[in-house]
Formats: sequence, C-alpha cells, structure tokens
Amino acid sequence: MDWWKTLIIVGVLASFCHLAHSVDRGNFKTCQQSGFCKRQRDIPEHESPYYVDPTALQISQSSVKFQLNSRSPKAAPLAVSLFTLIDNTVRVKIDEASPLEKRYEVPVGDVLTSEPKEQNFKIIGRDSGKMTLSTANNNNKVIIYFDPFQVNLLVDEKLVTSINSRGLLKVEHLRKRKISSSSTEAAENNNNNNDNENKNDDDDDNDDENDDDDDAPDMWEETFKTHTDTKPKGPTSVGLDISFPGFQHVYGIPEHADSFALKSSKNTDPYRLYNLDVFEYELYNPMALYGSVPFMLAHNALNTVGLFWLNAAETWIDVYSNIADKNVFSKLVEFVKGDQEIPLIDTHWFSESGIIDVFILLGPQPNDVFRQYAKLTGTTSLPPLFALAYHQSRWNYNDEQDVFNVNDGFDENDIPLDVIWLDIEHTVGKKYFTWDSDKFPNSVGMLDRLAARGRKMVTIVDPHTKREDGYFLYSDGKANSYFTKDRQGNDFEGWCWPGSSSWLDFTREDVRRFWSSMFSYDNYKGSTKDLFIWNDMNEPSVFNGPEITMPKDLLHNDGWEHRDIHNIYGLYVHRATYEGLLERSENHDRPFVLSRAFFAGSQRYGAVWTGDNTGEWEHLKVTIPMLLSLSVTGITFSGADVGGFFKSPDAELLTRWYQAAAFQPFFRAHAHLDTKRREPWLLPRENMLAIRQAIRIRYMLLPYWYTQFFNSEKDGAPVMRPLWVEYPSDVKTFGLDDQHMIGPAILIKPVVDQGSVGINVYLPGGAHELWYEFDSYAAYHGGQDLYVPVHLQKIPAFLRGGHIVPVRERVRRSSVLSAHDPYTIVATLDARMSATGDLYHDDFHSNEYKNGKFVHRRFTLENMSTFTSVDLNKGSGRSMITDAWIEKILILGVKQNPSRVTLTSQGQHPVNLVTSYSSQLKVLTIRKPAVNINADFKILFH
Ligand code: NOJ
Repeated sequence: MDWWKTLIIVGVLASFCHLAHSVDRGNFKTCQQSGFCKRQRDIPEHESPYYVDPTALQISQSSVKFQLNSRSPKAAPLAVSLFTLIDNTVRVKIDEASPLEKRYEVPVGDVLTSEPKEQNFKIIGRDSGKMTLSTANNNNKVIIYFDPFQVNLLVDEKLVTSINSRGLLKVEHLRKRKISSSSTEAAENNNNNNDNENKNDDDDDNDDENDDDDDAPDMWEETFKTHTDTKPKGPTSVGLDISFPGFQHVYGIPEHADSFALKSSKNTDPYRLYNLDVFEYELYNPMALYGSVPFMLAHNALNTVGLFWLNAAETWIDVYSNIADKNVFSKLVEFVKGDQEIPLIDTHWFSESGIIDVFILLGPQPNDVFRQYAKLTGTTSLPPLFALAYHQSRWNYNDEQDVFNVNDGFDENDIPLDVIWLDIEHTVGKKYFTWDSDKFPNSVGMLDRLAARGRKMVTIVDPHTKREDGYFLYSDGKANSYFTKDRQGNDFEGWCWPGSSSWLDFTREDVRRFWSSMFSYDNYKGSTKDLFIWNDMNEPSVFNGPEITMPKDLLHNDGWEHRDIHNIYGLYVHRATYEGLLERSENHDRPFVLSRAFFAGSQRYGAVWTGDNTGEWEHLKVTIPMLLSLSVTGITFSGADVGGFFKSPDAELLTRWYQAAAFQPFFRAHAHLDTKRREPWLLPRENMLAIRQAIRIRYMLLPYWYTQFFNSEKDGAPVMRPLWVEYPSDVKTFGLDDQHMIGPAILIKPVVDQGSVGINVYLPGGAHELWYEFDSYAAYHGGQDLYVPVHLQKIPAFLRGGHIVPVRERVRRSSVLSAHDPYTIVATLDARMSATGDLYHDDFHSNEYKNGKFVHRRFTLENMSTFTSVDLNKGSGRSMITDAWIEKILILGVKQNPSRVTLTSQGQHPVNLVTSYSSQLKVLTIRKPAVNINADFKILFH
C-alpha cells in the first residue's frame, strides 16, 4: 500500500478510535453552511404568492387535485394532490407541475407499508374563496383556501393545523444550468421549458420569494471542508410551513440529544435530520444524529395531531412558539393586562430534494395518532422474548475464553443474562461474516455452549465491504455491480473500519436479496440459529466522506442520487438483514436485528440504539427524552448503551444507569474498546447487588413487557410512553421528560443525579387515582408531587391503581429457561376496588403466533368481588396448549380480608383457595390457585 494511504488510514482510524473526547462540530454543517437550508430558512414570513384557479379543480371522491400558480414569476407552477385517507388522515402532495425530470419519491412498500387507503369526503361548502371538505364522521374538516393558497384542518370545529399560512411554500424547480444570464444556453433552456412559462425569467426583480438566483454560489456546487458536492441538478429543495394553533407542545422528529418537548429553534439552528455518525455527541442541541424520523406530534389538553413529512433527503425543521419565544417584557405586559395570547407553534420543514408529501393525522387523542401513523408505516414486530431481556456487550469480548468467562460470571453472581455480543474485532480484518479463527476457533461450539443456558449471541455486521479480491462479499458484489457508484460509474471507494471499502446499494431489491442470502447457515459459516445480528455504521458512516458519510452526488438504483435517499439507506440495511434472518429459518423464527441508523418504518425490522453516548450523568439523563422521542414516533424498541459508550462511569453512575435502563425497551450494556471492563461483578459488592436487583426486576416484569410489545404490534402505541399518553388532559405532564410509563400500568422516575438522597415524583391522575409504590406497596393519591427518599438500591417506580400486571418471580439464568415457569398476577385496586389487564404468552421465539398459536387473556377484578379471566384469542379459532399456570395472585389495596375465596374453573365445583392478608400492607395474597393460564376461571371473594 502507498505510504500516504497508510498515513490517511492511521489518521482517520485514530480519530475514529475516539482518542479525542469531544464532538468535532466542525465536521458537521450548520444551516449557514448548507445552501438549501439557508435559502429556505431565509424566506421571510409573507403572504403566499401561490393561488389556485378554482375553476380548474379535479375533484374525485377522495382527492382534490389542482395547480398552484405563483405571483412570483420565478416560481414554477406546482401540482397539488390532497387526499382524504381512512382513519382521520389527510395527505397533501406537492410536486412541480411539469418538472424537467421526475423528482424522487420513496417507493411504496419501503416506508409506507402500502398505498394508503383513501376515504370519500363530502363537499360541505364551496365559494369563490375556498372549498370545505369533510370525511365520513363529519368531525373533521379540510378547508382549501384558493388565494393565497392555504389548507386548514379542523377537528370538532377547532382549527388544529394550518398549511402555508405563513407563505413559506417553496419548491426550487429543476432547471438546466445557465452559463451566464445572457448566454444562448439560457435562452435555449427557457425555450425548452416554455410550458412552465414562469420559469427562468430573469427580467423580474420584484421577486418576493428571493429565490432562483441561478448563479448563487452554492446552487450548482457546494464545498464543505475539503469536499465538493457537484450538485448536477442544481437547487432542488422543497419547503413548507405547517402551524399548530392552540398548541404549546410538539414532540418527535428524532434523533436529537435534546429535551422531549421540542424547543424553539428561534435562536439556534433548525432541528436537523440527516443520518450521521456523530461521535461524542453534545447534548441539548438540534444537531443531526444517527437516525431520522420526520414525524412530529402536537399535543394539548384536547387534541393530539401528527405530522409526517415523507422525504428521505436531508431535512431541517424550524420550530417557533409564540409563548416560548415571547420576551420578558411582553410576558409582563400580558400578565398585567390579564389576557393571554392563544398558544401557537409554527413549524417550517425543508428538504434538499424530492417532493412535498405530508400526512396530517388528526387524532384526536394520542393513541389515535399512534394507530394512524402505524397504518402508514407499520408497527414494531413482536421481538423474541430474549431480545427484551438483558444484553451484555462490549467492544470487544476478545476471544472464546473471554465469552465463557462472561457467561460464567453472570451465573456465579446469579445475574440473569440472555445475550452476549461480539463487536468488529471478532472478524478477520473487519470482513463481516467471517470469524477470526485464532480468537474464535469454534464459533458453533461457543454458540451451543451459550445456548445450553438459554443464551444467544449477537455479532456485528456492518454495511461497508472491505475491498479485497477474494473476499466473497466483495468479489460477488463487484462482479454483479452491486455497489453504490461514484459519478464516473465506478464502485465508490471510501474508508471505514476495514480501510478501503465499498458500500452495497441497499436501495436495490436485488442487492438486498443478495445481502439477505448471506445470512443462510451455508453462507454465514459458523453461525447457528442462536446467532443474531447488529447493523452498525449504516448511516452510512464513511470516515473520509463529507460529514463522515457518503458524498451526496453518488449514484444509486435508477440513477437516483445519494442526496435523494440518504436518510433511508440505513433502513434498507436493517431490512435486508431482518429479511435474511427470516429466510434462514424459512420464516419460522422471529429475527432480532439492532440498527444504529433508522428512518420512519424502521420499527418493522427491530431495535435501534442511541449510538456512542458517554458515561456521564447528563448522558444518563438524556436517555429518557431521547427514547421517548423515538417511542412516540413509532420506534418502540430502543435503548441506550448502559454505562455510556465512552469513558468509564463510576460505580454509582453505572448502578443508576442499570436501574433506569431496566425500565427502557432495549436493555444492553456496551462500552468502547478503551474503557475499563465493567461487568457487574467488577464493581463493589453493594453496586453489584443493586445492579443484580435491577436486572432481576427486568426479568420479573418480562411477561408485562412482552404483553405490551404484543399490543404495540397491533395498535402502534409505544411501550415506553410519556405520561400524557395516559393522561392527555393533564397539562403538568406535557413538559415532563425525567419520568415515564411502561404501558398503562407502571410509572418510573429513575435516579439520574449523583449523590441523590431523594427525588420528587409527579403522580398524575387527580386525587381519585391510586398509585402503589413498587417495593413497599404503599398507596398514594394521584395529582401530587411525592418526595421519595432513595438509597443505592432504590428505583422509584409505581404501579397504577386499576391495573393487572403479569410477572414471573422465579429467578433463572435466562428468559428462555423460564419459558415454562408459572406466573404471578399482580392486581392493583383503583378507587372502585377494581382492576384489569392482559397477559400474552406464546412460544417466545417463533412466528407461530401469527397463526393464532398464543394465549391472550384479559383478567378483570370487579369491585373486589369477582376475578375473571377471559380469552382474547377466541377469534383466531386456534390457541396454544400450554402447561404454564398461575402460582400466585397478589391484590394491592385490599381494605378487608375476605372470609373465603373460591375458584371455579372450567365448569368444575368451586374450591377454596389458600390466602393470606397483610392488614398493614393492605395486600391479599392468593396462593397456588394453580390454574392453567389458558383456562376460563372465576374467583369469588366472599
Ligand atoms: C460504533 C458503534 O456505535 C459502537 O457501538 C461500536 O462499538 C463501534 N462502532 C465499533 O464497532
């Protein structure tokens, strides 16, 4: 290899081994450094120059299509299609009326699961200025204003969303480059495009859109650091403003290391969505991170509205709030005058290319919006149970002996564990699908040894391919021309872990099939059914690329530029891997794949994590808002590296981190190569015990987690959820992001401050709501801030009155080994002395549940007199034979010991049950009802 190449590799790798500990902001663009961001952001709020010719509307039963002309002569006419969709959803697509060439749209099936179903509307009003539509239930209205063009959306007569009310709609039309304004080429271009008569007219100085100066320096070429983006299509961006009148809070648009309720971006950059490998990321700013979900939710005490911006190119979003942006003086004046402005959130979205394709999800409640979004992009596939259990990772477990030591360490310390992970060093020279045979001479033997204790392994498989002739992945990829191409049509070459690399073009279906086939047991030698996969660096990360990713002018499938598809590349990698794991078992087993990059729809393919965080208290804190943002935008299965990836957390921080993460969806410890080993038993004993306790609580609650994930697969509701999902009208919950819920029944506020001796927990729901402290069973009323003293072992968590939570109390080495264990049912009485909840149970790993092979029961305790179990799986006509049974029922909040408790099961004679009652704890324990979980039974309290 050339000496200079070696130098580059060493330099680049050194910086990627993260020897320096802080984000290099200079590696990433600010809005000012991005031509289209600047151009779009600089448009002043004004009356939109766009208008509709009301005589030229094309109206069908569920769509209205029309052309938008502009008073600004430089703006090309636009084609708008507005669709009313099923389930209170409205779609607005805006493209150029006659683009020079087709603009990119994400193929249906890749993000949208299918073509969205339309629903007929009625025209309930029409005059020369507007047209009003209403869909079946008549609660929602869509008003299209003709001049200036604007769309308003109303729910129950309340205006909840307004499109283009600030006049920021702007589409940079495709054009040919002019050499100079007087050149003949320009004249030719104008002639060629005379169907768009307003295009490229240079004579007009009166352009209030201040756009389309074709010679602006960054329109046809943009240089950032040493990288020049050739931009052969010139400026292509699209932008639109969308406002939420009556709202003070918006959420979503991950991934940012920021608060859950989005902040005003008035004095910062806009929130950026551009999948990037940002190591040592900084907290509380709108910089882009590894994944992007362009989905936002606005929530107030009456309504929830969703906004999905379907565009896979780099996107920025400004968020302004009339309340938050008010200066102190205006606040004072308002206070004195006693009148308060109606809150309003204005958002402004702009993407570098593609079209405008916006979905407005009209709720009206949070769960409605989750369902509506799930109808568009799908839900999280039910993970195999082990994936919800505890994972132990580090870069790297060095060899088989190291793996065995870790495996044994968990058993010796009685800590449950389901999965051990191997990072990049397990391969030969970072050639994925290979094993370094010095370190891992017998991977199958190793996997089997883990499997004997019910454990799995995950190996890393990154999407960069080492350019080494003879490496099967590279040779086959090259021979079939499967790699992403540079502008000259050559396989793009960049630098990543293996050194010189190429990247398969995952946007192509044939390439994805090729990749999927690599996971067959024949191709992935040394793998077994107990091996699962981790896709890292799939933003994609290119060490020597602009902003550490692919140049935007690379070429994919059918000639689309990387610019068009950047944010969806990682989803395609995740998907192809997921499909590979499905195929290797002939669709029998559920895959598990972790991905770092993601987009809307990634939830269908597995879990994501928040990348390279740091072992600091602030990074522990930010896990909650980051994971909530992912949760409410469909990415239900997410987590953060426990302990932090960089740096070595002290024992207290690590303990607190485990306690928080035990209540977060994806629960994996992971650490950088350079950090101190931190397996739990390496900590002082009291920390090890606290960590063990946290992990055991996770295992105890697995039946509840699993049931929640099953429900989420059906209805799209997040498992880890903000309090306002359960208490939509409790305004005190809207700004909370240091406590959250798991499903409807568990509230947790983890300790995230060093040296804490107590914390305040907000218990929502008003005085009629009851909350039971997780370990003491002490009951508290809702509507209060409760001070909870804490010690090292303490995890402030509460069970909500009125719910039933299934648990498993027997401690096992892994979740798989508890598959046949009995359940304990925990019921918490509400003020009506009642409770209800579900249990979902299946074989915990296969797709047989899709054929009805599962148990799903609804338990109901009415008025502390009858406890029933009803089959929720009757409809499927199939069920599952299981020997799992109920060994205990615990009822919290029982005021009086019943004199007798009897059980009737499957029509048999009632039998007396053995109970015990603690008048001090107000807990009734029913011992060994010993009924099968799938039996219809009734318990009577006499
Ligand atoms: C970056 C990932 O974010 C990190 O988790 C991993 O350990 C390293 N790549 C090495 O593969």
